[in-house]
Amino acid sequence: MRVKEETIDQIRQSLDIVEVVGDYVQLKKQGRNYFACCPFHSEQTPSFSVSPDKQIFHCFGCGMGGNVFTFIMELEGMSFIETVQFLAEKAHIDLGETISNQAGQTKRNKSDRESLYFAFDLISQFYHYLIQNEKFGNLGLTYLLNRGFTKEIIQKFNIGYAVDSWDTLTQFLQKRKIDLALMEKVGVLSKRQFDHKYFDRFRHRIMFPITNHRGKVVSFAGRVLTDEKPKYINTPESDIFHKGNLLFGFHLARQDIKRTNQVILFEGYLDVIKAHQCGVTNCVASMGTSLTETQASLLTRHAETIIICYDSDDAGIEASFRAAAILGKEQHIIKIAKVPNGLDPDDYMTKFGGEKFLSDVIGASQTVMSFKMNYLRRGRDLNDEGDRMRYVEEVIKEIATLTKAVERDHYLRLLSEEFSISLDALKHQQYQIYRQRQRKNQNQNHQKRPPVVFKKLTTLYPAHEMAERRLLAHMMRNDEISEKVQEVIGGSFHIPLHQAIAAHLYAYYLGGNPPDLGAFIHYLKDTELQQKASDIAMMDVNEEVSDQEIDDYMNQIQNYNKIAEVERLASERKKAEQDNDFERATKLLAEMITIKNQLNRR
Ligand code: CTP
Ligand code: MN
Repeated sequence: MRVKEETIDQIRQSLDIVEVVGDYVQLKKQGRNYFACCPFHSEQTPSFSVSPDKQIFHCFGCGMGGNVFTFIMELEGMSFIETVQFLAEKAHIDLGETISNQAGQTKRNKSDRESLYFAFDLISQFYHYLIQNEKFGNLGLTYLLNRGFTKEIIQKFNIGYAVDSWDTLTQFLQKRKIDLALMEKVGVLSKRQFDHKYFDRFRHRIMFPITNHRGKVVSFAGRVLTDEKPKYINTPESDIFHKGNLLFGFHLARQDIKRTNQVILFEGYLDVIKAHQCGVTNCVASMGTSLTETQASLLTRHAETIIICYDSDDAGIEASFRAAAILGKEQHIIKIAKVPNGLDPDDYMTKFGGEKFLSDVIGASQTVMSFKMNYLRRGRDLNDEGDRMRYVEEVIKEIATLTKAVERDHYLRLLSEEFSISLDALKHQQYQIYRQRQRKNQNQNHQKRPPVVFKKLTTLYPAHEMAERRLLAHMMRNDEISEKVQEVIGGSFHIPLHQAIAAHLYAYYLGGNPPDLGAFIHYLKDTELQQKASDIAMMDVNEEVSDQEIDDYMNQIQNYNKIAEVERLASERKKAEQDNDFERATKLLAEMITIKNQLNRR
């Protein structure tokens, strides 16, 4: 599949990068640009910026940068073509006629990823067909109906059933001419050792399609219908499936998460599905592993309040604390909801419905600290002085981990009131624990990087590199400057990436393209170049640059080699003098003078 360059340009021009990025991060305007905490790495102070004038983004912390296409490709993990389709839809541009879709060639031209999407979609439809078919799917359907799921919700989540057979799916895929070896690789088929024949990997299981954030099936989880183990069989990671980047149910929840500015995080697929059935639609589940940083930032990017609602057993509570620690960014409200009587969220909603769940469970959710305080009480007799003191000490230890002073104060006051201990004494002890921990951390994290501050970063560039950056920044904005530089120094930039950018820029202008930062960055294609170019394009340079300034930069670049050469000669000369080789020393001095005379000629 190919999309014409004109169409891509058209898409780029009809979208505003600020709006596209704004769907994912909360942008704040500051001067001419917008700032936010970077969605590509974890940080506390915003170093991610978007320029509406230049239509590009750049993170001064991690170096990620580019235009709208780069942003979506990197953030959603899409291929270029997928990104074009995604953005075309946003821009209301019809790709229908512009795609050269020669008949017969499409199948062969499909990339591996696309054939995987195609196969997974087909398989999900097949399993779903089976569960709805009385003859094949009755066992699966009955199981779900018995657990209180409706036919509508089975449809909404495209749930299916893998029949108790060795070759139902295998035969189906064979008939559809799907590559069976590929299907084995992605874990829907298995291969017999002795005759290398393929067979169905999922048998007599409820099949949950796992979709990516655009709703495309990328994986399957198959649940047994009994208490047998393993409860789930999952397809492994693949080109289109990275479980640490996904949240189950996200594409169905996205809108409601934005609307409510709140998201409920469950542990189980079935919790999410039951919640939807009960009208609670701002919920997702992690994928059976602990919450990853990527999943956490996906949540914090979309909602201000995150409510963790895991199973109420000890394992669930411990997992809640771990998730809370990963989510614990300052600006967000992280809460923990406890489902009473040892019930799973799914069981609870089956019994009491969605409204009661929202009011009694979600409504009664507590801040992480309050929840911890209650948890630490378990098994203690607070009338006993020893138990009480141990409890107070444990709580103070937890309070010492809080970053906000008002919060620490709040919980210390609660303790002080409940146990009639002087607030000063509590504060004093809290501070001591805090200092102790700080000293320990200092010893351990000696080499830990300080937070990146942009101002400092710029000063880190050596003079010649800075000159090259400034020069390129002007060249990207002005084709005449680029032409002049091409004439004078051509490709002799010292930094290889700068050299490559200059070469592309010459070719770009030669092709008759006008100065346009966004268009040029798109023209670069290569991600490393795009990042470097957007980094440079984001620099604040004087728009009304004088010829003198440009000449100075070029001189600095040209002189750089010479200065290095002079330094080399000087140290050799010193050595020659030490060796009493004065003839050589004199020759070296003459060479130095010749080169020095060439410096700053223009
Ligand atoms: N999980 C898994 N493999 C297992 C067990 C669990 O991948 N063998 C993951 C699944 O993502 C599952 C989640 O962990 O959804 C939570 O586990 P659990 O509560 O046991 O499963 P549920 O989906 O809630 O199923 P059920 O309510 O039927 O127990
Ligand atoms: Mn469960």
